[in-house]
Amino acid sequence: MSKVVAQIDVQDLKCEMLTNPLGIDVLQPRLSWKIVSSERNVDQKAYQIMVSSSAEKLAQNQGDLWNSEKINSSASIHVQYGGIKLNSRMRCFWKIKTWTTAGESEWSAPGSWTMGLLYYKDWPKGWIGFDRPFPGDNIKTDSRLSARYFRKEFQSTKEIKSATASIIGLGLYELYINGKKVGEDVLSPSPTDYTKNVKYNTYEVTSYLQNGKNAVGAVLGNGRFFAMRQHEKPYKIKTFGFPKMLMNINIVYTDGTSLNIDTDGSWKGTADGPIRTNNEYDGEEYDATKEFRGWNSIGFDDRKWLKAEFVQEPTGVIEAQMNENIRVMNTLKPVSIKKLSGDRYILDMGQNMVGWLQIKVKAQKGKQIKLRFAESLQENGELFTANLRNAKCTDLYTAKGGGMETWEPTFVYRGFRYVELSGYAYQPSVNDFIGKMIYDNIKTVGTFETSDALTNQIFKNAWWGIAGNYKGIPIDCPQRNERMPWLGDRGAVAYGESFVFDNGRFYAKWLQDIRNSQKDDGAIPDVAPAFWRYYSDNMTWPGAMLLVTEMLYKQNGDVSAVTDNYPAMKKWLTYMQDRYMQDYILTKDSYGDWCMPPVTIEFGRGKSADKKYPSALISTAYYYHFTQLMMQFAKAIGKEDDVKTYEILGNNIKNAFNKKYYDEKGFYASNALTDNVIPLYFGMVPKDKVATVFKNITYTVEVTNKGHLSNGLVGIQWLMRCLNDYGRPDLAYTVATQKTYPSWGYMVDNGATTIWELWNGNTADPKMNSQNHVMMLGDLLIWYYENLAGIKSEEAAFKKITMKPEMINGLDKVNASYKSIYGLIKSEYTKTPTQFKWTVTVPANTKATVYIPANSKDEVSEKMKSIMDLKFLKMENNRAIYEIGSGDYFFVVDRK
Ligand code: BGC
Repeated sequence: MSKVVAQIDVQDLKCEMLTNPLGIDVLQPRLSWKIVSSERNVDQKAYQIMVSSSAEKLAQNQGDLWNSEKINSSASIHVQYGGIKLNSRMRCFWKIKTWTTAGESEWSAPGSWTMGLLYYKDWPKGWIGFDRPFPGDNIKTDSRLSARYFRKEFQSTKEIKSATASIIGLGLYELYINGKKVGEDVLSPSPTDYTKNVKYNTYEVTSYLQNGKNAVGAVLGNGRFFAMRQHEKPYKIKTFGFPKMLMNINIVYTDGTSLNIDTDGSWKGTADGPIRTNNEYDGEEYDATKEFRGWNSIGFDDRKWLKAEFVQEPTGVIEAQMNENIRVMNTLKPVSIKKLSGDRYILDMGQNMVGWLQIKVKAQKGKQIKLRFAESLQENGELFTANLRNAKCTDLYTAKGGGMETWEPTFVYRGFRYVELSGYAYQPSVNDFIGKMIYDNIKTVGTFETSDALTNQIFKNAWWGIAGNYKGIPIDCPQRNERMPWLGDRGAVAYGESFVFDNGRFYAKWLQDIRNSQKDDGAIPDVAPAFWRYYSDNMTWPGAMLLVTEMLYKQNGDVSAVTDNYPAMKKWLTYMQDRYMQDYILTKDSYGDWCMPPVTIEFGRGKSADKKYPSALISTAYYYHFTQLMMQFAKAIGKEDDVKTYEILGNNIKNAFNKKYYDEKGFYASNALTDNVIPLYFGMVPKDKVATVFKNITYTVEVTNKGHLSNGLVGIQWLMRCLNDYGRPDLAYTVATQKTYPSWGYMVDNGATTIWELWNGNTADPKMNSQNHVMMLGDLLIWYYENLAGIKSEEAAFKKITMKPEMINGLDKVNASYKSIYGLIKSEYTKTPTQFKWTVTVPANTKATVYIPANSKDEVSEKMKSIMDLKFLKMENNRAIYEIGSGDYFFVVDRK
């Protein structure tokens, strides 16, 4: 084969889908890379991976950990490490070289990963903390607990080669070395059910250390460990104990010796610091007069501090956190500040956001500045707080006096657009504030823009809502006294989210949370981690486990999602079948088509939105759908027997379902939209009835609803795809661009900058509507990408892409991109009555089938090279269908 051809580049090296991760605990990590080339039709033929124990060895091509040699394979994602056994604290440096249809690449730039503390024995013996409250704390119901500070000094006298900190700080920690905060993470680690597993984080701290004396300090906050409500509803709310930590700093010297700084009896601690209370619902109180200057640096006088105590360890298994931590991901400047009565002001961030507010203030010592947060205002200009229920969402800052002071909280966040400020002796300005948006450090991988301004705004609202609700777990909402990882909400939208956010690691972690919440008998709860105990047994909420698994497999090709979760999914399906299936009808449901829009907006006024209408039609249809998913999963991991079993069960369910619910007039049950949409979209409708059922669906949407949806959480997950796939993308577009109730546009028209919980959010019972829930997005984003932009994964991870943008009157331009695990996929079109122009990018090592709207093949040209070079498949339904390999294309259709 010819030697190096410059156009082939290998980039973006990933280990377990992370860039240069530290402290992983996967023994055979999976490696992925992207091939980038200006050539077309680039496919990988072979690869060689080299893994070394040092950067120097790697540079010298000494793959002492693994040299795969040249392997003939097209695999460029999730390739499993196959070298010598990896052990605790090992450092691995790797590079990759590929042979492709367009020639051979150079070795890539190096990537790396490090191994964490793989065995329990690697950890220090003692967890430290104080397992008790202190004066000023109140742990009766709305927990008030001051943050706990710990410190220690130590000597390091030799030349340091490397130093690593491994920390489990529960509920939340901030770590400092020599006065400097370690890393950029905030609100870490990710919450888990701490009786099942606890996550550690790893940081490279070489540059934080100095020769001679060093100081390490840590602050611990409550997070979900010391729950926001204690004793409020003990039958329901789980809490785990007082904050505590386990930590090791491992310093390796150039002479080969090492030093371990561990949590042990030598630490000092206090709960009498400036953070007087930190509670995710209620807010943080910070008393700057209690600051102890220099507490996390050397030379601080800690004689008044207590001796840190050894405390009970949490029972959960210790694991590396393989998903991203939370960071400050975005900052916002307020758009206005207005005076209210007294010394109060209202700050408007211009956007419903999730995070906190940094303030700059001048005040006398002891003066208190109060910040109250809310998503919207009442008509009189005061905060609207009814929908926060009993979450106080208030920060209190006590000034130390003597000049400009800058402060932001450490261990809380909330959803807000407006802030009521009080305690100022002067009129503050918008320049005194920065809104910090906080969510998991997950990259935005999708862009989407169209010629329709409303669609663009809805997309933007979705972005803000989805990002804001990523908090190490997918929370339902960020403001009220809930913020719980409800399963049904994300079963509905995780797939759509994945087009916009690189959420593969995040959702893999959540699936683990769900697995861990499963009872021995197979029951899966409605909230996981089960911080609230709700094991109500239904198909639609726990079923998120299957829908999210499908998403991870489909979007990222992550077969481990299937392998890891298969036994739990199977056990749960058996559990539900054994207990609730009668004559193939699954009789148990909990929520029905949750939060269906009231028929008229007036009817919704003041009405409780959380009425439940359980429906065996929904539970049975979902059970059927899950048999079909299990068949796919079983195939993917080679469980042939199960494929057969689920096929037979599925057929029996389908027959019983049609017998029970199908009405000869051509609809299901009461002819409600969801009753028809789900059997049709799930493929349960007998072939000869499909057309009539679909006609009933379009009649409901078009005539009865006058172009509107009428679905709750269940139906809305499938509506857009159903309308689209059965031939009415135009009607889907009508629904998607409505401005009147009920619709996404109605929310926008009523000032929403995120997505509401309820279609009638502005007229429902005031305390019911979260203004930042993502569940009602349903399958809207999926439809945006797969059908408006035409970017759809046909074979796991977009190895095969279907590019078929729907041509819709009134929509003349769509410009979308998606960074898949193989590389960038782009689809940008503009159309006029006479011309269609379409720019397409297909990543290396993948293929796409493009459906070009044209009356005949002769209308189509390709401007970058020539249409003649492309593989024409056929004409079908006014589309010229081509199969193309990787590269950039510019198609033009001149209508004749
Ligand atoms: C949550 C929802 C959740 C539902 C189920 C609500 O309070 O906010 O998103 O799915 O309860 O009962």
